Formats: sequence, structure tokens, C-alpha cells
Amino acid sequence: MTGTSAGVSIGDKTIELPTRSGTIGPDVIDIGTLYKNTGAFTYDPGFTSTASCESKITYIDGDEGVLLHRGYPIEQLAEHGDFLEVCYLLLYGELPTKAQKDDFDYRVTHHTMVHEQMSRFFTGFRRDAHPMAVMCGCVGALSAFYHDSTDITDPHQRMVASLRMIAKMPTIAAMAYKYHIGQPFVYPKNDLDYASNFLRMCFAVPCEDYVVNPVLSRAMDRIFILHADHEQNASTSTVRLAGSSGANPFACIAAGIACLWGPAHGGANEAALNMLAEIGSVERIPEYVAKAKDKNDPFRLMGFGHRVYKNYDPRARIMQKTTHEVLGELGIKDDPMLEVAMELERIALTDEYFIEKKLYPNIDFYSGITLKALGFPTTMFTVLFALARTVGWIAQWNEMIEDPEQRIGRPRQLYVGAPKRDYIPVSKR
Ligand code: SDX
Repeated sequence: MTGTSAGVSIGDKTIELPTRSGTIGPDVIDIGTLYKNTGAFTYDPGFTSTASCESKITYIDGDEGVLLHRGYPIEQLAEHGDFLEVCYLLLYGELPTKAQKDDFDYRVTHHTMVHEQMSRFFTGFRRDAHPMAVMCGCVGALSAFYHDSTDITDPHQRMVASLRMIAKMPTIAAMAYKYHIGQPFVYPKNDLDYASNFLRMCFAVPCEDYVVNPVLSRAMDRIFILHADHEQNASTSTVRLAGSSGANPFACIAAGIACLWGPAHGGANEAALNMLAEIGSVERIPEYVAKAKDKNDPFRLMGFGHRVYKNYDPRARIMQKTTHEVLGELGIKDDPMLEVAMELERIALTDEYFIEKKLYPNIDFYSGITLKALGFPTTMFTVLFALARTVGWIAQWNEMIEDPEQRIGRPRQLYVGAPKRDYIPVSKR
């Protein structure tokens, strides 16, 4: 509490509501007693001004383009850390010592296999099923295999389930890809690091040895870091809401995957690349920029804009650098999509409409180009986002369960439907 308060007057009632301050960022007005004392609700569709919880995990300053994980800037974590180190940080709150990191890596590595019967789930899907549909089904089905880690009241079981999710998502994502393209599944190898293991499970074939390219696996690892967590975004809020009812962690993560799939959220990386392909050439960019500005046209520039960032998304800068590293390593010089992307970014950053609306490129704008260069089809882009975001979802889920203030989430509403009325027999309608 801050000792200050916010006065609210409704009708003939005036009450004082307590305020709270965090470590950094905006204060909050605690409205927990508002309805009891005034009979009124607050109204905030989209939760543009509403904090749903206290959290210690991630902080975003949208005006300054700042993203901190447990206080560490994303730029430093992406530059100096690796994804499993960031996973440890998000889960436990501190950077690991060498011994802690080695133990964590060992534990995750030795949970990467999935139950052999999981492979039978895939055969139930059409080969051309969208991999995100497969992920929703298979991750939810994990609940059916791991009854020994679904008791959410047991901290040990919660941590085992957390490790299992982080460890098995790459294996399930790779299986979804292999099934999609009709190639045999590739088992994880314990002598490979997390990102290298994932690339090998996706791109190795039984006919020849697969050699990991260290530049590409480092880029993959960095892409995972950039997507790991992001405060109370739509999919994380979905996981928290599902978890608030006591649902098991695997079902909660499956709910997060479903929400992330939307083109306004995690599906934007796939939509952004499809948009660049549709624009096709630098000459057609003005036509699409005009469509984006047209209030009567539902078209939006995918990969631009953000609910929180009203400045450049710090992840997009790092993503752009990674894009050039990957294209350089692969000798891709004149990628037409990159040319369109760079020109579209230049125009958008100088155009009055985008400046006034504070629409900057977000992480999804460049990630698609990089993932395509790494060899992934667009349908796998959001799967990779879900793979990386699993640690954020799980860390936030654990924090929610350990929060003494946590209760089942149950928003109210402003009812604008018909007042009470009596039934009319069909003969009189
Ligand atoms: C992610 O929340 C997170 O943290 C998400 C994420 C994460 O890591 O979890 O960062 C990942 O989801 C990134 C965002 C990816 N989505 C896209 O790139 C899709 C395109 N962007 C938008 O649809 C939009 O910008 C949102 C959904 C991202 C944000 O929507 P808001 O905050 O609700 O803003 P809005 O829709 O009210 O738009 C404000 C104005 C509107 O104009 P007006 O009605 O005020 O006249 O800006 C316009 C919009 O029309 N606008 C755009 C635009 N985005 C917003 N106009 C053209 N192109 C766009 N991309």
C-alpha cells in the first residue's frame, strides 16, 4: 500500500480506495471493495487500464521500450545468456550458479522424451492439419500421461510438471512438424543443447547424419529467449485464468496455446510473413499502407503495433540483428521479403499515421523472415512462439498458485440485454 488513496464518487456515495505502488511502473488503485461499497463495477474491455495480479517476473515500460525479466534487460539476456538460463531465471527468480545451471540443464535434458504412445495421437490428424491444432491437442493430452504431476497443491509436483513442459515442448513441436511433412519422428539426443536438439529433431533424416550449424542454433536459442515471457499478455492471462480454477498445468498450457494462435497475438508472425508475400514488391507497399490507414478496410499491417509498446519493441531490434546474422550465414543476399520488410519499416517509421498511432514493428515483424530462412514453413512459426513462451506461461502459472491473494478469476459485466419479461406461448408470437 502507498498510504495514498483514490476518491470515487458515484451518485450520493463517495469512497476512498487504497492505492499500491510496485517496484517500478504505474501505481494501482485497489478496487476490491468498490462493488461492496458503491454497488458499481469498473468497466475496461481489453483490460487497457487494469492490473490482474501482482507479479515479480517481467516488467515492460511501453513508452521507453524496456523489457526486464526478473530485473535483467532483455538485451543483456539475449546477448550473454542462453534459453535454459533464462528459463531458470523466470522460474526461480535469480540467475543460476554454474552448478545450478548444470543441474537444471541435466534435469530438462532428461525429460525431453515423450511417452511412446504420444506418437499415436499424431496419426489421428490429417497430414495437412495446421501444426497449432496438433499442438493444442497433443499438449492437452499430456494430462492423460502424467497423473503423477497434476496435483497443483504440491510444489514438487508443480516443478516436475514445469520441467516436463519446458523439456517436452520442443519434442512435440518437432513431431508436429515431421508429421506435417510426412517424415519419420526424430528422437531427442541428450548430448545436444536445447536449441541444437530442437533443430536436429526438425531437420535430421535417417538417411544421413545431421550436423548442427552453431550460428543457426545460437540464433534459434536467442529467438526462444526473445519469446520467453511478456507480462500479462492475452495467452498468459488465459493460462492464469484457466489455472485459477485448479485445472492441471498441461490443460492450462494447452489453453495458452489456443489463445496464442490468434493473428492479433502469436499468430502475427505467420500473418506478417504472409502479408509480406502478398505485398510481393517494394512498389506495392504504398497500396498496402493506404489500406492499413483506411478505417473502412479491416486490413492491418501485421507485425506492427502493440498494446503496451508505444515505442520500438526492444525484441524487434534484437530480432532484426538475428535476421541479418542468419541470412548472412546462409548466404541469402537479396531476400525479396527482407527488402519489402526493410522498406515497409522505413515508410511506417516516417509516416504520420503510424507515428501518431505509435505503431512500431513488434517482435513478429522480423521473426517470420528468420524462421523461414532457418527452414520452417509459415505454419510452424506460432508453434515456435508457443514452444518458447511455455516457460513464461509456466512461471506465471506457478506464481499465481503461490499468490495468497489468488482466487478463481470471475469478471463481472455491464448488462445491456432485455429487462425481465414473461414467456410468450408460440401461438401468440
Ligand atoms: C504479440 O501483449 C503482448 O505482449 C503480445 C506479445 C507477446 O509477446 O505476448 O508482444 C506478442 O501479440 C505482438 C502483437 C502482434 N500482433 C500484430 O502484429 C497484429 C497487428 N497489430 C494489431 O492488431 C494491434 O496493434 C494489436 C492487437 C497488437 C494491439 O491492439 P490494441 O492495443 O488493441 O490497439 P488498437 O487495436 O486499439 O489500435 C489502436 C489504433 C487503432 O486505430 P483507431 O481505432 O484508434 O483509429 O491503431 C490502429 C487501430 O486501427 N492500429 C493499426 C495497427 N495496429 C493498430 N493500424 C494499422 N496496422 C496495425 N498493425
